Amino acid sequence: MKILLVNASGKQGGATGEILRILGGALAPKHDVKALCLGAYEIGYCEGCFTCYRTGYCAKEDGVDRIMTHMEEANAILVAAPSYWGDVPAQFKALIDRCTPYADTNPNRLVCLAPGKRGYAIALRTGSHPQECEHILSSVAHWCGHMGIKWVDGAYFCGISGREDIIARREEVLALADRWF
Ligand SMILES: Cc1cc2nc3c(=O)[nH]c(=O)nc-3n(C[C@H](O)[C@H](O)[C@H](O)COP(=O)(O)O)c2cc1C
Repeated sequence: MKILLVNASGKQGGATGEILRILGGALAPKHDVKALCLGAYEIGYCEGCFTCYRTGYCAKEDGVDRIMTHMEEANAILVAAPSYWGDVPAQFKALIDRCTPYADTNPNRLVCLAPGKRGYAIALRTGSHPQECEHILSSVAHWCGHMGIKWVDGAYFCGISGREDIIARREEVLALADRWF
């Protein structure tokens, strides 16, 4: 299976990156795994111009095109997102907005992901209550729904301040690799 691991933050070497590093290591022997960090891509804001509602295509050309190519190549897409102010990081929200050409809400959609892809998400935060993480998981599930990605499952880690907290919970991360793939 081709699995795309998406770090939804701007930071490669943090706790989110550590989750994906552990997962990638566990999955690589059996699967074709590709990892990307949204911070490495230029993702311009959607300006709400609705060009894509008329033409089917976004008026902007930037890193979103490359991200979509990686998504198109994958059978499964796993988004890992830290809580930033109780929500997904701005990089991922910018990507969601820019997915409007590909969404089933677009009346003139000409481009979309091939059907049959499966979606997963992991949310993490420093605080202890799960509600914030559940909100992030529901945002990813909502995006999956409009992108034709079959939402499968989500998991979260509370009480995470940095990558060392994930290293201490490595077994829980590895259990997700077993459970999902
Ligand atoms: C801008 C910013 C906002 C944050 N907001 C929250 C928050 O609202 N609730 C929370 O529990 N943690 C919050 N955090 C903490 C992160 O969710 C946590 O440190 C996470 O492990 C960061 O992952 P990273 O190391 O991959 O960046 C915030 C961190 C940053 C940088």
